[in-house]
Amino acid sequence: MRLSKPNIQLNSQGKLRHFLTLEGLKAHHLTEILDVADSFIDPETGDIRKQDTLHGKAIMNLFFEASTRTLTTFEIAEKRLSADVVNLNIATSSTKKGETLLDTLWNLEAMMADMFVVRHNESGAAHFIANHVAPHVHVVNAGDGQHAHPTQAMLDMLTIRKHKNDIFDLKVAIIGDIQHSRVVRSQIQALSILEAREIRIIGPATLMPSHPEALGVHVYNDIKEGLDNVDVIINVRLQNERMKSALLPSEKEFFNLYGLTNERLAYAKPDAIVMHPGPVNRGVEIDSEVADGPQSVILEQVTYGIAVRMAVIQILFNNAKALAAGESK
Ligand code: CP
Repeated sequence: MRLSKPNIQLNSQGKLRHFLTLEGLKAHHLTEILDVADSFIDPETGDIRKQDTLHGKAIMNLFFEASTRTLTTFEIAEKRLSADVVNLNIATSSTKKGETLLDTLWNLEAMMADMFVVRHNESGAAHFIANHVAPHVHVVNAGDGQHAHPTQAMLDMLTIRKHKNDIFDLKVAIIGDIQHSRVVRSQIQALSILEAREIRIIGPATLMPSHPEALGVHVYNDIKEGLDNVDVIINVRLQNERMKSALLPSEKEFFNLYGLTNERLAYAKPDAIVMHPGPVNRGVEIDSEVADGPQSVILEQVTYGIAVRMAVIQILFNNAKALAAGESK
């Protein structure tokens, strides 16, 4: 799915102006985010330090779809950068009285917004908004339909890098509902850009994308074969809200065939890490013994989400400043 020219998110210096998708980005864009995120994390304590950099900037979080992790970690990230933060409550906003998305945006711009962080159930919503904002306003995609969830993929890359150092050398298996997951689309793009050694997708044929070979991944319908000797396992949930018809006999059947259990985890390398973007459905895609077990890094992913989102926000504002400085010379 190609929604718009991906380089709408790059400025005339080839640097990020918006952060909408990983499609079309280069390894240096991703490693900059990872390096800046890392710089916010205290190496001794793991704390994520408060920065004094975005005083006077107003960041508005527009979540048209439910969220626990993304909304909360964006809010924490924005506050740790000392920005002014507004969470628009869509359920009680004037969109319920028929105001269009663009009218809502222009009204928020009149309140001096500098950045919109957008989650929407329609693929392309963040691109649409980025195409209509004022030149100084940045847009960050916090998940749009089945299309992309780029900050989730970046926090996943940071988590992998923290545990495994070099992504280049790794075999990564992604299990579950590949077809409907925006997270998986972005993860595959990130792993490809960072040149992971092998990317595998595991699941039933009904939950696979129609042309998986175009993604540069290896497809497995058998979970044991797919997990054999991998370094990283990423488990994703069934995206029931995006399935147009029943694609599985039952959740119980899915767990029997594809649920991540300790017995199946043993096929991976002994030091393999287990990841999940959340929300976790215990007993459907993953057993509690694995989700809470010693190889699980699921809650670390959540914490690294703060540092990665701080990095993305900081980089967008820094790039705008560098562009303005270049243009005034
Ligand atoms: N991973 C993720 O996007 O979680 P939320 O839906 O809770 O934000």
